[in-house]
Amino acid sequence: MKRVVQAALAAGFLVLAVLALFYGRAGKESENRIDLDPRPSTVSPFREEATLRNVTKRPIAYTIMPGKGVRGPVARTLAVGAIDRIATDLPVEISFDDGKRTSAYTLHPGKPYSFRYDASDTVRVYPGSHGREDAADLAPFVPTPKIVVERMLETAAVEKKDLVYDVGCGDGRMVIAAAKLYGARGVGIEIDPALVAECRAAAEREGVSRLVRFLEMDATKAHLTEATVLALYLLPESLEILSPLFERDLGPGARIVSHDYKIPGWEARLVRSETLTDEAGREHAIHLYRMTGKT
Ligand SMILES: C[S@@+](CC[C@H](N)C(=O)[O-])C[C@H]1O[C@@H](n2cnc3c(N)ncnc32)[C@H](O)[C@@H]1O
Repeated sequence: MKRVVQAALAAGFLVLAVLALFYGRAGKESENRIDLDPRPSTVSPFREEATLRNVTKRPIAYTIMPGKGVRGPVARTLAVGAIDRIATDLPVEISFDDGKRTSAYTLHPGKPYSFRYDASDTVRVYPGSHGREDAADLAPFVPTPKIVVERMLETAAVEKKDLVYDVGCGDGRMVIAAAKLYGARGVGIEIDPALVAECRAAAEREGVSRLVRFLEMDATKAHLTEATVLALYLLPESLEILSPLFERDLGPGARIVSHDYKIPGWEARLVRSETLTDEAGREHAIHLYRMTGKT
């Protein structure tokens, strides 16, 4: 019984944390956020550990609390960009003082987590995308709703001659929709092998597998030189990490369309922003950028 309650609480925590991550931060631009149907990723190849990554800009101190199979308390400090691999086959609790209050988070084996900033720049623990040390964690999987996908493609004026890239493509819905609606070719880049398998199956099912392909890789190592349209749904700090790639690879006239978040420092290339209200009455921001050549 205790296990069932624990499992229910764990599932609830993950759903709430992903929602808080995307709603809370998008809430900077709009108060009313959509339910994005979060689904925790299972990309971590490790079962008997929880990974905890620091994607903030300062070292983070926290304490691993004593528990079943965990001796403690153990004080840890995680350097910027570092990953702690907490060996455990049971949920483990960490305690963390964010400067305003001390919070306890329960981490689960086989799952990745990240220290990230919330909308008010307070550091909190959120679900991550993967626990790989050789790759950036750009965002957990939160799919863009269909109505927003379609508006993003329209906003970017996608045509048959375009090659649409989605960097962190999730289940592949963006490039699959571009192929179905406009006959455009597409490339989806995704680090989670389970999602890449879903992308390929969906492309097959939708009859567009000759137009789209999916690369299982870390997007920060990708080459985007062939892209004429880039569709994105990533957190602002991840857009900041990737923007030098966009500068390096995208040719004049290429369009970038970003769901909810603006690319930091790219005001000069911003063509327009709009807000779309979905069936549930929730709002999504869409930002369109156009490459004008090297600055
Ligand atoms: C917020 S979801 C967006 C999914 C999709 N683009 C959409 O709009 O529906 C972000 C995706 O980025 C993926 N991701 C995170 N870090 C990544 C990395 N370093 N390389 C490639 N994909 C990554 C996650 O697994 C997740 O599927």
